[in-house]
Amino acid sequence: MAVLVTGGAGYIGSHTVQYLQDRDEEIIVVDNLQSGYHDAVKVKAFYSIDLRNEQELDRVFKEHHISGVIHFAANSLVGESMEKPYEYYHNNVFGMMTLLKVMKDHGTNKIVFSSTAATYGEPKESPITENFPLNPTNPYGETKLAMEKMMKWFDRGYGIRYVSLRYFNAAGAHYSGLIGEAHEPETHLIPLILQVPLGKRKKVYIFGDDYDTKDGTCIRDYIHVMDLASAHGKAMDYLRKGNPSEVFNLGNGKGYSVKEVINTARVITDHWIPAEVEQRRPGDPAVLVASSRKAKEILGWNPRYEELGTIIEDAWRWHKNNPDGY
Ligand code: UFG
Repeated sequence: MAVLVTGGAGYIGSHTVQYLQDRDEEIIVVDNLQSGYHDAVKVKAFYSIDLRNEQELDRVFKEHHISGVIHFAANSLVGESMEKPYEYYHNNVFGMMTLLKVMKDHGTNKIVFSSTAATYGEPKESPITENFPLNPTNPYGETKLAMEKMMKWFDRGYGIRYVSLRYFNAAGAHYSGLIGEAHEPETHLIPLILQVPLGKRKKVYIFGDDYDTKDGTCIRDYIHVMDLASAHGKAMDYLRKGNPSEVFNLGNGKGYSVKEVINTARVITDHWIPAEVEQRRPGDPAVLVASSRKAKEILGWNPRYEELGTIIEDAWRWHKNNPDGY
């Protein structure tokens, strides 16, 4: 009985594959390598196919007995989604539709889904709980919400149960330093900061210091990628026990400002990282901090790497060892 991981060659996917292999699960990876790297995973069953190709996906389900799916494969950049809504709807929504159809055809009835805090939009209060209103402000968040709703109706109609995990800001890397975050182009704060001590950029830009926060810069909830990985394992265990479909936030519960992240990176890398204040980036909410109480209570999830210092230290080990990624 295998677990299919779609998008298993991507950043969060590859760390989850590693976590599941460490607990002896049989893993099949499907990834079209649009933004993933084959070298990020060591699995015997790797299929470089596109989820939207129903015939090829069907073949994977015929060749293996797949008991559950962990679904990461999707486009995931807020800014890019504003420029390319068609690509986001096609890859994310149509991809999910094809996957659920093939699961239904083969009687696979469990799916853990990689959702996002972007489904909430710009909440007025903090910390964010799962019952907050869902008002995405960009096509990325909108497509993830559409995918969640599709799962809801496929559960009603065909009995495919799901756990949707709404992540906040994924960061860090496996402690081995062998796998980590590699995006092309890079847009995320922590890897961009670390490019300065790597000599790949001269300074980092702070997108706005006039927000209504303690130091004027945006506050985010950074969660270690290996804590995300363990939550996927717990979510699959939860479904295996026959529990009903659910939605969970995954965050640290602690918010850090952009300036605090830069200062922590300065200490860990022992480099003075020049930072310059720029204009606000359109669509950035001032504060996004999760309440992950529900995941802890119901899934028994236990995040282990909650310190921002640990998260940046692990990210730094990967980037230092692999300055050019994979
Ligand atoms: N930031 C800078 N300078 C940079 C890059 C980012 O100041 O060069 C700031 C941003 O304005 C933001 C914070 O650093 O306040 C974090 O930005 P990221 O781009 O790293 O992450 P986001 O919070 O924009 O996005 C993340 C995920 C999305 C998810 C979103 C939820 O990457 O997938 O959280 O809102 F949708």
